[in-house]
Amino acid sequence: MKGVVDDLYGHVHRVADLAIAIGKEMSLDPANVKRLSLVGILHDVGKIHIDPAVLAKPGPLDDMERDHMRRHPEIGYAMIAQKFDRRVAEAILYHHERWDGFGYPFGLAGEKIPLLSRIVLVADAFDAITSNRAYQAALPVDYAINEIVVNSGTQFDPAVAEAFLALATRGDLPAKTAPTTKDVLAPT
Ligand SMILES: [Fe+2]
Repeated sequence: MKGVVDDLYGHVHRVADLAIAIGKEMSLDPANVKRLSLVGILHDVGKIHIDPAVLAKPGPLDDMERDHMRRHPEIGYAMIAQKFDRRVAEAILYHHERWDGFGYPFGLAGEKIPLLSRIVLVADAFDAITSNRAYQAALPVDYAINEIVVNSGTQFDPAVAEAFLALATRGDLPAKTAPTTKDVLAPT
């Protein structure tokens, strides 16, 4: 379980940092950049109610496990909807929707998906590929950049992928500086 918590803690901070960078690159107004930081931190909060054994499973999930895991955006929405700005909750709800409509939970496509969700999807994918997680070893940054480019227009909003690529090309992707739980909890 501790490994899962470490994964989530570092992951959500890095996703927030990258989502903010993409949002600024796309000239979002300050209120939406602030929302992006919240959505980045909270996008996976629904995983609190997902079985830890499923979260930590090293191999592919079976159908039941996958359906269970795929409830986390709706659980997160329900947790946050009463507490924050409605647009933060909605961005959490739609953070696994794909540009081509083959995502979940609703199969929304294109601009029907909130822009904040489309941005977090790219940041989430980049961090998932480049980080050591319970079920997958980290892959190189260049590999992840190529994945974003190759899947622009299918999985990813082309405008978001373009902004991400502009950051990557200039060497302006945020450094992986988020603290780990170990740093935070270490005795002083
Ligand atoms: Fe997620």
